[in-house]
Amino acid sequence: MPTKIEKDAFSGRDTTGHEWDGLKELNNPLPSWWFWTFVATVVWSIGFCIVYPSVPGISGYFGGIWGYSTRDAVTADVAALAAQRAQVLDKIKDVPIEKVRQDPTLMAVANTAGRIAFANNCQPCHGAGGEGRPGYPVLASDRWIWGGKLADLQQTITFGIRSGHAEARQSQMLRFGVDGVLKPEEIASAADYVMTLYGKAQPSPAAAKGQAIFAENCVACHGDSGEGKREVGGPSLKGAVHLYGDTREAVIAQITNPRMGVMPNWNARLDAATIKALALYVHALGGGEN
Ligand code: HEC
Ligand code: HEC
Repeated sequence: MPTKIEKDAFSGRDTTGHEWDGLKELNNPLPSWWFWTFVATVVWSIGFCIVYPSVPGISGYFGGIWGYSTRDAVTADVAALAAQRAQVLDKIKDVPIEKVRQDPTLMAVANTAGRIAFANNCQPCHGAGGEGRPGYPVLASDRWIWGGKLADLQQTITFGIRSGHAEARQSQMLRFGVDGVLKPEEIASAADYVMTLYGKAQPSPAAAKGQAIFAENCVACHGDSGEGKREVGGPSLKGAVHLYGDTREAVIAQITNPRMGVMPNWNARLDAATIKALALYVHALGGGEN
């Protein structure tokens, strides 16, 4: 339809030339408050783009003349929080760990700090209450691979296990299957014997054969009767709690190709006072030794 601008007789204004079924549209100017608000928002947005981070570039972005960054803001917040926590932790920082344990006030500080640090750092592997999960040991029982004294825990947490740190706890079970130290049937027999230690099988001729293999190959790390050897980090094979499952298949898999779990060295991420609090917290979970 051709547009035809005409003067409206009633208002004296031009029409836009659009017409729908006899209805014509008047070309009224924008209300000035609307117009100026619009101009103000444009000015504001240009100002905003100059002041704050805005235009993206190829390998970065224009950071704005105020240099504001939400990441810096978070870093500052985190630093403030750390300073606040450090103030609390300062109370136990220079006190020997045994002394902290004997002082109920300091122990309350350690417990709170330890609980928070445990939830933040340890829970994913060891469970919320230190109950452990497959591949990650229970920390809430008196069953320790490396020892449950305060000093043991402090050392384990500080340097880790097979963490790559020079002072990490190290232990290495031989890869009896993969490296051909034992034949598959010998491994199966050894597993039959281990199942009796786990309480999952009765003594049998097969297990007796396995016991001989065990005496020759395994006692150096797991102890004469599978009770474990802390000096070399050989876990106890007695009882019902195990790192890697208690089926015959799981035991055969471990003897064939041991998994060698890794526990990080926390001195890379946590300060000494936090580690002290963690050791006290873990110690108090139920399995602490004196
Ligand atoms: C990435 C998983 C992971 C995280 C996170 C982790 N651990 Fe561990 N931790 C392990 C593994 C795996 C072992 C057992 C290593 C082995 O096979 O000997 C272990 C062992 C331990 C032991 C030794 C237990 C024993 O029986 O002697 C202690 C104590 C311990 N962890 C405490 C902690 C604390 C405290 C934290 C948090 C600061 C933590 N762990 C975080 C994986 C983890
Ligand atoms: C040089 C030391 C060493 C020797 C020898 C050794 N082990 Fe181990 N064993 C370990 C260590 C360390 C672990 C824990 C390993 C891990 O985290 O993977 C382990 C773990 C195990 C486990 C898993 C325990 C669990 O809680 O799930 C079984 C089963 C086992 N060994 C059986 C044997 C048998 C059977 C032999 C002999 C044929 C043997 N080991 C010889 C060091 C040794």
